[in-house]
Amino acid sequence: MDQLQGKKIVVLGATGMVATPVVHQLAEHNEVWGAARFHNAKAKVDLEERGVRTVVLDLADPDLSALPTGIDYVVNLAVTHSSKFSSALAANAESLGLVMSHYREVEAFLHCSSTGVYAPNGQHPMREEDPLGDNHRALLPTYSISKIAAESVARLSARLYDLPTVIARLNVPYGDCVAWPSIHLECILDGKAIQVLPGEPSVYSPIHSDDIIRQIPLLLEAASVPATTLNWAGPDVVSVQDWCAYLGQLVGKPAIMEETEFALPSVAVDVTRMDASIGPSRVHWRGGMRRMVASSHPEIELPAAV
Ligand SMILES: NC(=O)c1ccc[n+]([C@@H]2O[C@H](COP(=O)([O-])OP(=O)(O)OC[C@H]3O[C@@H](n4cnc5c(N)ncnc54)[C@H](OP(=O)(O)O)[C@@H]3O)[C@@H](O)[C@H]2O)c1
Repeated sequence: MDQLQGKKIVVLGATGMVATPVVHQLAEHNEVWGAARFHNAKAKVDLEERGVRTVVLDLADPDLSALPTGIDYVVNLAVTHSSKFSSALAANAESLGLVMSHYREVEAFLHCSSTGVYAPNGQHPMREEDPLGDNHRALLPTYSISKIAAESVARLSARLYDLPTVIARLNVPYGDCVAWPSIHLECILDGKAIQVLPGEPSVYSPIHSDDIIRQIPLLLEAASVPATTLNWAGPDVVSVQDWCAYLGQLVGKPAIMEETEFALPSVAVDVTRMDASIGPSRVHWRGGMRRMVASSHPEIELPAAV
């Protein structure tokens, strides 16, 4: 299943940073239904202009009758960042169960989780069995706990409804879009400091949107009962300090790093299970980030030698 063709696919969170390029690609060969609250009205129009059918859905209080029928696959890329635990758990976890119940007959369900579910453990490459914890509390107080809860809801729903499910724990996404590394790029261009934890470098496994798009069909193919859970990450482990230094070299400005206790901890991951299941990611970080700079700042002449 290199590519999905002629399928009916629902994507939850269709206007999001991760979902937007995925939905664009899927809509070229499939009937794609994009669901969100559509707080950004322009994003709705942009999707519709690409042939995506839109459906307004608020996962805080979902009206499932609005969702289309006869669907082959569901891809959940929605996330709510409420500071209230009751709201975050309802939208991110409980409503996921309602949606999986509604779509119990589909061929496969992809739930996007996060490597922010792991308990911080320095530069240790996280494996799927490693302890979970409140990783992102410093910046997003409800995020890790509601993502952990959502995984359990997805696993239970897979068993209850015999619904093939894959739970993909995404690391740091980036590409030709606004993402954490592109925010760092803007900080460097504006001479603003980038916050990191004190001590050893903060390492991650960033994944380019080209790999994310290519791997969606492969992840759906890996869906199973009981649910498959795997890390979803790029091919390299790299620190924020190193990618910011590289971005600085590309644009000819220094990256200013500021140490603070209020920064996210390292989450590099072990990709053994992912590589065995869907194959490795292909876009290496220097090439991917160079392309990110070129697409967001075409006016900057990039040095050939860096
Ligand atoms: N971005 C990262 O660095 C990162 C890292 C690891 C994992 N992830 C995971 O990747 C997935 C996508 O994240 P993202 O960064 O692309 O998120 P995002 O840019 O914040 O987009 C979230 C999407 O969900 C929709 N949404 C939010 N609240 C909703 C609600 N109550 N009802 C219905 N839709 C709602 C949003 O549209 P409306 O607001 O219009 O409803 C939007 O379409 C999530 O599972 C996230 O946990 C992201």
